Amino acid sequence: MKKPSYKKADAGAEAVDAVVLPVHEIQKGRLPRGAARIDKALGGLAARAVKDGDFKGGRDEQFSILVPGTGSVRRMLLVGLGPKEGFHNDALRRAGANAWNTLSSRSARVAVSLDDLTLGKEAGADVQALVEGFELASYRFDRFKKEPAKPKLERLVLCDSTGREATAARQGIDAARAIAEGVALARELGNLPGNVGRPRVLAAEARKMARKVGLGAKVLGEKEMEKQGMGSLLSVSLGSVEEAKLIVLEHNKGKKDLPTICLVGKGLTFDSGGISIKPSGDMDKMRYDKCGGCVVIGTMRAVAALDLPLHVVGIVPASENMPGGDANKPGDVVTASNGKTIQILNTDAEGRLILADALVYAQRYEPDVIVDLATLTGACMVALGQHCCGLMTKDDSLAKELVRAGNATRERPWRLPLWDEYIDEMKGDATDLKNLGGRYGGAITAGGFLSHFVGDRRWAHLDIAGVSWDDSARPYNRGKGATGFGVRLLVAWLRDLARGGAAR
Ligand code: BES
Ligand code: MN
Ligand code: ZN
Repeated sequence: MKKPSYKKADAGAEAVDAVVLPVHEIQKGRLPRGAARIDKALGGLAARAVKDGDFKGGRDEQFSILVPGTGSVRRMLLVGLGPKEGFHNDALRRAGANAWNTLSSRSARVAVSLDDLTLGKEAGADVQALVEGFELASYRFDRFKKEPAKPKLERLVLCDSTGREATAARQGIDAARAIAEGVALARELGNLPGNVGRPRVLAAEARKMARKVGLGAKVLGEKEMEKQGMGSLLSVSLGSVEEAKLIVLEHNKGKKDLPTICLVGKGLTFDSGGISIKPSGDMDKMRYDKCGGCVVIGTMRAVAALDLPLHVVGIVPASENMPGGDANKPGDVVTASNGKTIQILNTDAEGRLILADALVYAQRYEPDVIVDLATLTGACMVALGQHCCGLMTKDDSLAKELVRAGNATRERPWRLPLWDEYIDEMKGDATDLKNLGGRYGGAITAGGFLSHFVGDRRWAHLDIAGVSWDDSARPYNRGKGATGFGVRLLVAWLRDLARGGAAR
């Protein structure tokens, strides 16, 4: 799809194959004013469908109508937004995604009418959500298909007959585009199978993207990591033939007056469990164990495209966890770059080991705040399911900021307690720390382990194990697989920071 455009125009008068009419829950059996006018000009079948109760305007509801006659518009698509009361603009995102899913194989040129939307002071955010829906739904992981399906939908024009809020609408389109491209990159990298998406490939892809959008990029290999004393990170790839990489991307490098934010993402390109090997059942899913890192890379792309006035550093430890001859063994002791010793009681608790050194590395940027994302524990997935991620932090105001951004984007974090009891549970017997807590509360003890590597910085940990992939074919992840969860959340949070400067 080309970049969507905005036009002060009547959607029904455009030379397009389909006109999309987003409509709230139908009141009194009648279409809202804008849709009614457009429908009247196109033959009036939508009004009839509504009158007969074929379309009620419910969330995710759609009704497709072939326009009679030989005019240029062939189809009208009614898409439901649900009730006006309690409206959240995610309904627009879903409506956009549903429209894409219905039209992309049929209609090359599509106009969407904004006439019946309440474009008030949220105009930019609402248009952004709607366009995001189209953009997000258009992503497919098809690089391994001999003949990928080619969508027809190429041109999308958003029409408002009044031309109100034109500037905000255009900004909304730009933001949606930047964010969706970040999400698509996060998904594409996340979806790569283990034999393709190796640490060096993640590093090369990150570099390539950085060059394209103008980010600083640096990749540490194992030699450099040894020099830094990153014994914890390095230990995880001992059982693999793949060299670990530490990927660092930087936006607004050297701009000292801007708040500094470090984003750290687990980039475990395949997690077999190592010597504490996983059962084979769902082991293929462990190609998604790099999603935290991929989300950081995708977010950095969006941050650059939006040129946010923040100093943002993305740090991705990339490694493969395999049971080779040199692999970590249960009981082994390693030393992290902050000097803390760790006894590895379970080699499958490897995410925290690679994050430990990455979090220590983040300190050199003297960040005002650090957020890490990781598919860290099955326990988090058990606790929270697949509709939110776990949020662990001691910082109430940071929790509030992230929850706000989550509520706005519907990539929602849910806070779990990170009390000292959990943090202390990770202290070792003969070592400073151990990488395995007790039987219960595994998501939190994992967060507790990480807290030993952030000093007293403002820091939050997001456990995205339950939300990083989705096999249920939701409207804006019809292609299934990696979701890119976290890009929209982080970008919303960072845009809030850029506006209000709350980081410090
Ligand atoms: N990558 C896994 C966590 C995971 C599990 C993510 C399922 C997504 C779905 C992580 O490295 C892991 O293996 N964690 C262990 C920790 C345990 C050994 C303390 C787990 O959750 O079982
Ligand atoms: Mn593991
Ligand atoms: Zn893992």
